[in-house]
Amino acid sequence: MNNFEFKNPTKIIFGKDTIQKLKEEIPANAKVLLLYGGGSIKKNGIYEQVKSALSDVDVVEFGGIPANPEYAKLLEALKVIKQEEITYLLAVGGGSVIDGTKFLSAAAVYKGETPWDILANNIRTETGMPFGTVLTLPATGSEMNSGAVITRDEIKEKLAMGGPGLFPQFSILDPQVIVSIPKRQLANGIADAFTHVLEQYMTYPIGAMLQDRFAESILQTLIKVAPKVLKDPTNYKAASNFMWSCTMALNGLIQKGVPTDWAIHAMGHELTALFGIDHARTLAIITPSHYKYNFDAKKQKLAQYAERVWKIKKGSKNDKAFDAIEKTEKFFQELGIDTKLSDYTDDYEGTAEKIAKRFTDRGWVALGEHKDLSPDKVEKIVKMAY
Ligand code: NZQ
Ligand code: ZN
Repeated sequence: MNNFEFKNPTKIIFGKDTIQKLKEEIPANAKVLLLYGGGSIKKNGIYEQVKSALSDVDVVEFGGIPANPEYAKLLEALKVIKQEEITYLLAVGGGSVIDGTKFLSAAAVYKGETPWDILANNIRTETGMPFGTVLTLPATGSEMNSGAVITRDEIKEKLAMGGPGLFPQFSILDPQVIVSIPKRQLANGIADAFTHVLEQYMTYPIGAMLQDRFAESILQTLIKVAPKVLKDPTNYKAASNFMWSCTMALNGLIQKGVPTDWAIHAMGHELTALFGIDHARTLAIITPSHYKYNFDAKKQKLAQYAERVWKIKKGSKNDKAFDAIEKTEKFFQELGIDTKLSDYTDDYEGTAEKIAKRFTDRGWVALGEHKDLSPDKVEKIVKMAY
């Protein structure tokens, strides 16, 4: 196992009817900016619950943050933060609203000329404006990590940012919120969390027995609850296990002491930037090709995953490893997620070259757990995913 340090300061408030606990978490005398998305919270009762919990708090609202949070929209919110002298941010939404809030937390204290530099130059935020979240969509784990991904449509870029100052101070996780989530987004959440675990697990063995078991248990739980959640999101047992699995998949714990990959996400983000494909779906497109292309480097862990998660007992190590890739692709498809780029666009020719060039231009020439995934390899993987 590799050496590691682990600190996660986010307080989790989990369970039924917990949104009312909001008032205990907001500091006295705070001036709060409540941030939300396209309006789902106004239809499903979450907005009312939040407003009633904040009845004694000075609150300004900012709605309309789109999925794949858009830089231009966030700059409007930044203006409000400055004009209204906001001291505390509250995100009520899924990964997009929470990520947008993290950007604002960083931008509100940023001293440089243009806040885009935080993304373009990968500036880490040591201390941001404090914020909390009310999660409405289990998927990204953003509610308990310090990363964010921001889109700038004007230049078709989608870039990541982060830093120790960008953990939420608290996150409220009431699994009952999933009842209003459309099936498509539920499937996305399952696929995203599943791939988060894979990115931190499907590398090479390093003797981290507990981390492996943590990762496998999250995968097994997601496989088990997926059909139940899709069939009946009012099933609280399934909803609560789904929500906690998504948070645990990307709160930093399972990646400690082990090598991680994250190349699937790097390639996937480009597909969202270029075609607007939902984040989780881009991962389902790239994952099978990535594992087939890097089969030799990953086959030990692929075979372990085959045996422990998919219970594949027959065949050689190579057979099991290969079967596990097939099972993974089928799992995505059973969620209703297509796994080829051509399922989403007819305009896919040239995509692989474009992505490889972007990676070269950014100096991303050594991705993956072995730091050997060069742009020419990325080009081949994306082509295999057409
Ligand atoms: O905008 P509203 O109207 O709220 O509707 C949203 C949105 O249309 C809707 N929704 C959310 N909660 C709902 C609901 N509809 C009904 N009932 C509810 N309770 O769902 C739609 C999608 O929301 P979004 O926040 O975009 O989804 P998700 O949580 O999947 O977030 C995706 C974003 O997170 C980034 C992705 O790149 C993408 O931009 N990621 C963030 C990560 C992180 N910070 O750690 C890691 C991930 O790998 C990912 O990259
Ligand atoms: Zn993801």
